[in-house]
Amino acid sequence: MLTIRDMAPVTEPERQYYFMDLCAEHVKKLADQLGHTPTCCVTTFGCQMNARDSEKLAGILERVGYQLIEEEENADFVIYNTCTVRDNANQRVYGRLGALKNKKKKNPKMKIALCGCMMQEDAVIEKIKKSYRYVDLIFGTHNIFKFAELLTASFEEEGMIIDIWKDTDKIVEDLPVERKYSFKSGINIMFGCNNFCSYCIVPYVRGRERSRASQDIVREIKQLVEDGVVEVMLLGQNVNSYGKNLEEQITFAGLLEKIEEIEGLERIRFMTPHPKDLSDELIQVMKKSKKICRHLHLPVQSGSTEILKKMNRHYTKESYLELAKKIRQEIPDIAITTDIIVGFPGESKADVDDTIEVIREVEFDSAFTFIYSKRTGTPAAAMEEQVSEEEVKEQFNRVLECVQEVAAKRMSMLTGEVQEVLFEEINDHDSTMLTGKLSNNATVHVKAEPCLLGRIVPVKLVECKGFYYIGELLQ
Ligand code: 5AD
Ligand code: SF4
Repeated sequence: MLTIRDMAPVTEPERQYYFMDLCAEHVKKLADQLGHTPTCCVTTFGCQMNARDSEKLAGILERVGYQLIEEEENADFVIYNTCTVRDNANQRVYGRLGALKNKKKKNPKMKIALCGCMMQEDAVIEKIKKSYRYVDLIFGTHNIFKFAELLTASFEEEGMIIDIWKDTDKIVEDLPVERKYSFKSGINIMFGCNNFCSYCIVPYVRGRERSRASQDIVREIKQLVEDGVVEVMLLGQNVNSYGKNLEEQITFAGLLEKIEEIEGLERIRFMTPHPKDLSDELIQVMKKSKKICRHLHLPVQSGSTEILKKMNRHYTKESYLELAKKIRQEIPDIAITTDIIVGFPGESKADVDDTIEVIREVEFDSAFTFIYSKRTGTPAAAMEEQVSEEEVKEQFNRVLECVQEVAAKRMSMLTGEVQEVLFEEINDHDSTMLTGKLSNNATVHVKAEPCLLGRIVPVKLVECKGFYYIGELLQ
């Protein structure tokens, strides 16, 4: 006998739209049983890549008839899009998951789903199967495009559904997306990472590098612009590798030039470029661009050549400094920000001195500092000389202090200037103010009407308050 499932189209995205229709029937039935439109809450852990994936999950949930809400408390469907880059992200997921057990007891129709990077780890799946039996659906990073199909299955089958793929070369275009902001959006330009930095779990959970065809990216951005988007953030684990696996001859700089031409688009951001292969072509394209923001996030990770070698980063202290100098010479108004890891195996006080020297010399505009987290399965996890917690804390504080000192100095440089600001949010503490971003990614708070949200407006930067500016609208 032919089942409904057998009649599903085999090509994507048609197959998923077929399942969205089926799923919508189930959601309708659920609404009758509950006596209200079923609600759902999507929680994102981790990076901007995950945030974008969550918008895709939300797009499908909305399309099948769920109402998106912010508070998990009242949700009939809860999904955690997880991160595993550092262990504390994993622990937070387990904590939240534990708290859901009682909620599900009170609302037995409630569904719980888990997806994202953490689910690509065998040990995590084993733990959930053993200790969190009330989870309904688990899938990973490679088959997120199948969400509609899996959600349908979870309505039709009993028990926990688990679907994890080891890798994929598939990129499915044109699924629904529910954006968090109407005026800005992330865009995936590539997926996966081939770098295998020795501390990093990403290549194991996000798979090999795959770039999207440039015409698909440009088409998506044009549609977004028609829909009111003025700023895009191009997303990839290492955007400098963009195009390497494509038949078309294109570099990341070439892609940026194509995107620059899109009429109506005002700001282009991207993350993350790897310092080892940041080309002169890219610097020149940024220099002459009117739309690419004056911000480069260039993770250094460590300032010690020896540690960088152990990290498998393929650059030295000197070559990083040289690159940063060249960028600042060519584009003087650019903000350079970075990521730093403290406590990598074998890191000595002298290695941290090198990191501090780099911070002072480059004068990072800001930096994310992380304590090294041992990730099972990575080469660094097997290295001897893991640094003691106490020692790491001491070194971490030295680095943090230096970052804050340098950043505060850089930050105040624009005081008194007029700069364009994209207003993004109503201020958390004072609803008569809007919070926005400069091209260089600095935050500005300005007394302004909410009608300016999503608009780019010139603002006088009146005062620098350490990590943000207070600005005034021009009259
Ligand atoms: N421990 C600490 N920080 C890490 N990062 C990646 N892996 C680890 C790890 N095992 C940091 C890097 C990277 C950022 C996204 O997360 O600094 O640039
Ligand atoms: Fe991890 Fe290195 Fe790839 Fe970044 S470039 S995702 S740090 S392996």
